[in-house]
Amino acid sequence: MSGGGEVRWKPAAPGQPALELGAVRAWLFTDLHLGAQAPQEITSFAAALGQAPADLQALVVMGDLFDAFVGPEQWEEPAFQPLCAALSGLSGRGVRVILLRGNRDVLLEPADGARAGAEVADSVLLSTAGGRVLVTHGDQFCLRDRPYQRLRHWLRRRWLRALGRALPYSWRLALARRLRGVSRQAVARKPLDVLALVEPAVVEALEGHGAAAAVIGHLHIAEERLLAGGRRLRILPAWEPGRPALALTPAAQSLESPGFMSAAGPSQRTPVVTLDGLAGSGKSTLARRLAQRLGWAYLDSGAWYRALTWVVLARGADAAAENEVLDTLSRIELHCHADGRVIVDGRPLQAELRTARVDAAVVEVADHPRVRAALDERMRRLRSHAGVTGVVADGRDAGTVIFPDADLKVFVEASREERARRRAAQQRAAGLPVQEQAVLAALAERDARDASRGASAPRLSPGGRQLDNSKLSEEEAVERLLTWVAPLLHPPDAGARAADPTGGRAGPSH
Ligand code: C5P
Repeated sequence: MSGGGEVRWKPAAPGQPALELGAVRAWLFTDLHLGAQAPQEITSFAAALGQAPADLQALVVMGDLFDAFVGPEQWEEPAFQPLCAALSGLSGRGVRVILLRGNRDVLLEPADGARAGAEVADSVLLSTAGGRVLVTHGDQFCLRDRPYQRLRHWLRRRWLRALGRALPYSWRLALARRLRGVSRQAVARKPLDVLALVEPAVVEALEGHGAAAAVIGHLHIAEERLLAGGRRLRILPAWEPGRPALALTPAAQSLESPGFMSAAGPSQRTPVVTLDGLAGSGKSTLARRLAQRLGWAYLDSGAWYRALTWVVLARGADAAAENEVLDTLSRIELHCHADGRVIVDGRPLQAELRTARVDAAVVEVADHPRVRAALDERMRRLRSHAGVTGVVADGRDAGTVIFPDADLKVFVEASREERARRRAAQQRAAGLPVQEQAVLAALAERDARDASRGASAPRLSPGGRQLDNSKLSEEEAVERLLTWVAPLLHPPDAGARAADPTGGRAGPSH
């Protein structure tokens, strides 16, 4: 992620102009990923289309209708016949059926859509009482993923598409399978925020189209965001059998209006658990292990402060000068992996973050309110990163400031003596000389510094739970945390989502 605001992005290639639909009653679906390997999903979607209300005027499939679209022959496959029939049936009734290109079906051509009575476009514009709404897949806004954007650019070249389509169908199918495998591996290697949306790019697209709001898919999350200038963004979750369309009516006032959202169902926020505590309380070990057990992302907020401190020191800036620290932050790319590792300008940092120099300077860096605000803002975005099904965050103010709306907030406690004993053991294990008294004194000093940070001082959040980690083994503490997290995983109405935290689908495929 670009450190000092979103400065390092290039505008997306303009592509086709958006298709103007005007004020129509529309149904929107996204990210169906239909494939012949799961014919029951195809029939289930076709059946859902059969339930379209009589006054429906437009159906917009916002990309990735297909798990991989490799050419018009696909419509002829027996598994896809019900889909073709359902789409043609709607268009026969006078409904405008529009297939937007996603990343999986970027090869769709107008003639391919016409086989099912559909138009093909990159985006559409709908008019509502609340203003124009831009509907598009959304992958074009994930601009930090440069390799994917390069591929996207190439796949939109006419000559390359024509060349691809000249290959035998079986070759194209094999090629698509191969590309999917490569893409899955590439996604697993990418830092989380590389896959995230670059909001200024969405704002620019909205400005360009004179639109007040955008509706996108692609990220496989359900979210609403307020963008710059009061514009709105709604991210629709991937379709799965039983999930209704987003019904958009001309009377909709805004993305929040009940009419607009009527069929979308409740927004599914990515759950967040926070573990705060003083230095040496054991929160980081517990947070990492909890995240591993849950298959969630681990956010080590202390490591972000340490990484910034490391760069400040490496560049000879003054850790005590807020402007210098902010300036340093604006010049670096700071990312993190789902296991908590922090990456600065492509370099993963681990041992470098635990040196005595960083230890001494990090408290100064963490004292600057504007630095804290800038880092908090970036850390919060982890929640909406593609493929992240939950976040365990640890720190001093993870539950009070970074994620005040966390689903579970825990304050990890341990006596200062116990914390000093743990710190000393860690240092011994790392082969460092240890003086118990010095460790105790350093902890007392750090506690005092942390406590002086006003709203960010470590404390139990209202509604939070305390975990006394002095007498529990690591195993016992993790088990206790899991019992506290369990209700989040199986809320009474969670249904299929609880059984599969990804909702049956992995994140986007670039
Ligand atoms: O947890 P850790 O010791 O790695 O944190 C490094 C430093 O970053 C701490 O001294 C603490 O003052 C600061 N920090 C913070 N707010 C957080 C996490 C860490 O101020 N949420």
